[in-house]
Amino acid sequence: MNPKAIITSALPYANGEIHLGHVASTYLPADVTTRFLRQKGVEAYYICASDDFGTPILIQSEKEGKTPEEYVEYWNKRDFEDFTALNIKFDFFYKTSSQENKQFVQDVFKKLEQADHIYENEIIQLYCNTDKKFLPDRYVIGTCPYCKADDQYSDLCEKCGRVPEEIENPHCSICGQPPTKEKTKHYFFKLKNFSNQLSEYLENNQNLQKDVKKYVQNWIKEGLTDWDITRDISWGIPIPVDEEKKKVFYGWFDNHLAYISSTIKFLNDNGKDGKKFWNDSDIYHFIGKDIVYHHYLFLPAMRLGIGEEYKLPDYIPTRGHLTLQSRKISKSRNWYIGLKDFLGIFPADYLRFYLISINPYSQDDLNFNWDEFATKINSELIGNLGNLINRALGFTLKSFDGVVPDPDAFDDMDKESEKMIKEFVTELSILMEKNHLDRALKMILQFSAHFNQYFQHKEPWKNGPGTNSCVFLSVNAVRSLAIAIYPFMPDSSQKIWVQLGLEGSVSAQMFDQISNITLNQGHKLGSVSPLFEKVEESVIDEQKSKLGDTN
Ligand code: 2FM
Ligand code: ZN
Repeated sequence: MNPKAIITSALPYANGEIHLGHVASTYLPADVTTRFLRQKGVEAYYICASDDFGTPILIQSEKEGKTPEEYVEYWNKRDFEDFTALNIKFDFFYKTSSQENKQFVQDVFKKLEQADHIYENEIIQLYCNTDKKFLPDRYVIGTCPYCKADDQYSDLCEKCGRVPEEIENPHCSICGQPPTKEKTKHYFFKLKNFSNQLSEYLENNQNLQKDVKKYVQNWIKEGLTDWDITRDISWGIPIPVDEEKKKVFYGWFDNHLAYISSTIKFLNDNGKDGKKFWNDSDIYHFIGKDIVYHHYLFLPAMRLGIGEEYKLPDYIPTRGHLTLQSRKISKSRNWYIGLKDFLGIFPADYLRFYLISINPYSQDDLNFNWDEFATKINSELIGNLGNLINRALGFTLKSFDGVVPDPDAFDDMDKESEKMIKEFVTELSILMEKNHLDRALKMILQFSAHFNQYFQHKEPWKNGPGTNSCVFLSVNAVRSLAIAIYPFMPDSSQKIWVQLGLEGSVSAQMFDQISNITLNQGHKLGSVSPLFEKVEESVIDEQKSKLGDTN
């Protein structure tokens, strides 16, 4: 395992609150992974930033009577607070509009230009005569030239995932009128130049998901088109050779460069050589499947274009979209759950547990279902895990004054349980390393279910022979569980640690410690109380009634 890692997740637009959809595909898996890597002894940093530029943000700030700077400042802070409430713990949360990113983006552009990867071209741009503005990206809706899907934005087809060169049947998304065509000069990045190198990179990188690689390779085979990297608006990073022309870089040219510029700032500020650290590390970019094109093509091509001065990604974990009660999440249709609202009702660990348990390491979409959420929390988290912890620790407190007893000679069942504690970590660690977080969580639940059965079968409350061994092993199994669930449910993990009478932070325990039996005879537990509270049906019904038509 590489002893250094940089983890990023797709930068949230500074344009509205974080909802469950964002969290499921990127932020939570990245946070769990970072915590796990640290438990494996890796010096891992989780870096993110708000994505501040682009037309939608400019228009929205105007509507609210704010400057775009004020507007993004508000959302940068708010997003960070919401993430923190879910225990998504960034080492650094910066912004694409930072001075450091501006400088970095302009430098990259100059280097790309010097290496002959940039050219200027006069293009015909769509212009709305009603709204009196050029209509970039999201402001044009039409038919995808590739898959013929209707109602697609001009910068990304949500049906087939491609970035259309020219959308068909365009109309202005503000007023609905067909736009006219006007001439304007733009800069282009020669993406085509990189077809072979990109294909090789994808081929050689064994960590990338095979199914994603396959369709990206197909896009390359079908032929890439050069990429228009400038926009005729005022809110963005100015093009260095073109300051006075009121053109700025397209948000997708500058945003992923903020992965690098923010990381370098953070590391340099912390007394490290940021660039060296980046190049020595394993680089992870966690994303949702809607931005595969940008992360598997534009991003590596730009790093290749500057002579791989910064290492290309080692991992691009890509997951599907979250639907809500089997329907597409939509704020305007009120089919939506904001993260802040959710966390006002349920503990962070409930959401972390549920979202990870339904979230495979694949492009498959996942579905948030209120009834399933309640069932999983009540029967798996509380009925299985919570039950074992409370039973094992509660019984030790009641019958042994909270002191771990000296075990008797082990019978076959004890030996099997001891073996589980010792061997469980090996397979668990492999699943975590392969980012099969859902399967790892399932394995933890199986481990807990085993110890519930063991406890039930041994009937220690009858105080017959073997009682001491049962209590001894069960308490040690709870300790293993506390360490194993740390990346998934850090709050609950720490609470268990304290109930076990252990000192310090559970986060400091190495993952491999899971397999050790360290709570010996005479160890005194802390005070014990139930960790989780049942989710009531009435609360779930109330949540369901908030969705959809509110009249
Ligand atoms: O799709 C989005 O929400 C973008 N804001 C993601 C940007 S990730 C980039 F920085 F690479
Ligand atoms: Zn399409």
